[in-house]
Parts: sequence; C-alpha cells; structure tokens
Amino acid sequence: MKYKIPRGTQDILPSESKKWQYIEQKAHDLCRRYNYKEIRTPVFEQTELFARGVGDTTDIVQKEMYTFEDRGGRSLTLRPEGTASTVRAFVENKMHGWADQPVKLYYIGPMFRYERPQSGRMRQFVQLGVEAMGSDDPAVDAEVIGLAMDFYQELGLNNLKLVINSLGDVESRNNHRNALIDHFKPRISEFCGDCQTRLEKNPLRILDCKVDKDHELMKTAPSILDYLNNESKEYFNQVKKYLTDMNIAYEVDSRLVRGLDYYNNTAFEIMIDGEGFGAITTLTGGGRYNGLVEEIGGPATPGIGFALSLERLLMALETQGIELPVDQGLDAYIVTMGEAAKNAAPKLLHQLRKEGLKVDADYMKKKVKGQMKAADRQQADYVLILGEDELAESSVMMKTMKTGEQELVPLNEIKDKIFIAD
Ligand code: HAM
Repeated sequence: MKYKIPRGTQDILPSESKKWQYIEQKAHDLCRRYNYKEIRTPVFEQTELFARGVGDTTDIVQKEMYTFEDRGGRSLTLRPEGTASTVRAFVENKMHGWADQPVKLYYIGPMFRYERPQSGRMRQFVQLGVEAMGSDDPAVDAEVIGLAMDFYQELGLNNLKLVINSLGDVESRNNHRNALIDHFKPRISEFCGDCQTRLEKNPLRILDCKVDKDHELMKTAPSILDYLNNESKEYFNQVKKYLTDMNIAYEVDSRLVRGLDYYNNTAFEIMIDGEGFGAITTLTGGGRYNGLVEEIGGPATPGIGFALSLERLLMALETQGIELPVDQGLDAYIVTMGEAAKNAAPKLLHQLRKEGLKVDADYMKKKVKGQMKAADRQQADYVLILGEDELAESSVMMKTMKTGEQELVPLNEIKDKIFIAD
C-alpha cells in the first residue's frame, strides 16, 4: 500500500526548514524587542470555545473545523486559529490580575482549517500571532500593527499595503447592523443561502461573502464609517494619527470586515501587491476584540492582535526573489585515509562539535575521492585530512577549500584556526 500526505498539508524538507528556522528566529527576536512573551497552548481545545470565540456564523465554525470526539465522549477541535485559545488561557490563568498590563503574548504554531486547498491556503498552516490584552489605548493598536509591518520589512518584503478600518463599538455596530438589514432585506432572496441566514444573525458577514461579492447591493451597502459614534470616530482617528507618527502608510477601506466575529473598532489586513501571488493577497489579519475575554468567561477586558501565516510569508519572499541568509555549508569535513584514521574520526568529530564547529565525516565507506566530493557538495570551508602520518603526530592536514592551501595543524588547534579565519 502506498501512503500519501493528507490534502492541504506539506512536508517541510531540509532545504526549506532552514528558512522556517530563520523566520521563526526573527519572529522571536522581534517579539522580544516589543516585549511580547511567548505562550504555547494545546493544538486542540473544547469545540465550544471556538463556536463561542470565533463565532458560530463564521465560515471557520460552520465549515472548516476539524472536530472529533475523544474516547471520553468530549467534543474537541483542532484549533483553527490562536486568539480563542490565548484568551481561554488568559482567563483560566487569571492573567487580568498580573501586575503588568496589558498582557502581551505571542505564539507560533500550527492551525487547522478544512478549506479547499490552493496555493497559500492550506489545511494545516503555521501562524505567528500576537495578542495584547488589558488596555484600550489606541497606541497599543498602532504598536501591534507596527510589529507586523516591521516583521515583513526586516525580512526585506516590498509592495506591502496596510488596509485599516473601524468596525466601531457596540452602539455603532448596532446602528450599522440595522442599516444593513434594511438595505439587504428587500432583495435577500437574490443572495445565497448562507447570506439569507446571515441577514438576521450577523448581517456584517454578508459583506464578506465570496459567492455574492459582485451583487450590486454589495457596492451600495451602508458604510460602517458613516455609523461610528463620536467615541469610535475619535478612537479611529487616534490609531491613524499614531500610524502617521510612526511613518506607517495605510489605506482606509470601509469594506474590510474580517472573517471572524470577535472584532470591534480597529480591523486591519496587510496585503501584498504584485504578480505571481494568485488570488491570495492577504498576508496578515487582525483587529481589536474588546468583548471576547468576557464572552469566554473572564472579566471585561479589551484586547487586540493579529496573525499571519509563515506559508504565505515564504510564498511572498519567493515571488519577490528574496534569499534569506540561511546557514549553508559545514565548517569542516573530515576525510580519512586508512582504517586507523577512520577509527579515530568519531573522537575528533565529537571534540570539534563540542567546541562549537559544524563538522561531519563519511559513514558510507567512501574512498578518499568520494569523501572529497562529499566535502565539496556540503560546502565545507575546510577539509581535515587524517591519515596515518597525521595520526602519529596528533594533527590533521587542513585544506582551505577556497584557496587550496594546506597546512599541518595539531588537533587541539583546529577550532582556533577555523574561528580566527571566520
Ligand atoms: P485570519 O484572518 O483568519 O485571522 O488569519 C490570519 C492569517 O492567517 C491570514 O491573513 C493568513 O496569513 C493566514 N491564514 C489563514 N488561513 C490560512 C490557510 N488556510 N492557509 C494559510 N494561511 C492561512 C485569525 O486567525 C485571527 N486569529 C487573527 C487575530 C489575532 N485577530 C486578533 N488576534
């Protein structure tokens, strides 16, 4: 029987995994500078958490969850996103009582959605997410957006577009909601079944419908920006002012509603312009979720965050021809001549690795020529030739691959020679 990888998933092979490591390291480093601390939550949670947290009118909850019953009869779901889990952990660990507020957290981990796979849309994908809970200062919104933009810029991505919107507070949203119902109701029979259900449950979702996106009523739908009350308007203005102060260019798009239910006030996406990216142009999505902590059983606590997938980021880097400075070759490769030298190799390898060098040797009984070829293929900076003569002198013949120069070096001086040459 032949086994195949499940649809919408991928194996990350060594030539790719080193890029992943590089990007993950960048993310850890950036979050450290912004003073966000890492949180790791389980990959599965009670199904109810996502139904409540993400919202049961969303595509994610209605169509995309990997839900299963465990042997104890509990309904569990592979996490489709990280915000609900992070908020659950915030509530369960009483983080609202921590001395330092807002609590600033980030995560990097796999998420699962049963979607129709296409380039940039996977069934298992890795999100870097950031969540700041406990403050409703618009400066936190700007900080979170700034972090996301910095991440892409530090990796060298170009042609990014930051799109922002305000979904308003509860009062503004309710007024807008009523206007949307009045707008769509008379002709709702022309819309898809999902939109017909959305009309009463969550009319904002209609604006995000992929089936009816070209319907003329979509273009004339009332804009949330016309329904913001003074407080929401002022909040949005502050966020925009901070972004301008930080020299971060943005576009306001009143149609940006996002695919999850928990947002209010600030919503944003970072898109990438340009060819070679297919239909998927959104790299990052995020926004404010001031009601979510309470919804999940905690005290009323404001929050804001974003998530981006590393898969889409890597695609973007590739389409822009950006090479990451990943660690390539070996520091040294040990080439042995004869039985006694081969037997001495494990000890020398062990010593050099302990000293911090990246070294390897042959385990396939290759002849000297084959070993030299392997050293070349693996881009070793040095070849350490070990034969009977060298063994007798506790030394190796050290060949610098770039110049072809050779010199006899005592075993205990190899490390220094290589590090100094670096
Ligand atoms: P989201 O818009 O559902 O938001 O996803 C955020 C990002 O995850 C997307 O912009 C995209 O980069 C990536 N993504 C989503 N689905 C897939 C997929 N099937 N394949 C590859 N990448 C994908 C959230 O998940 C929210 N939790 C974001 C958030 C955090 N809001 C506040 N805090």
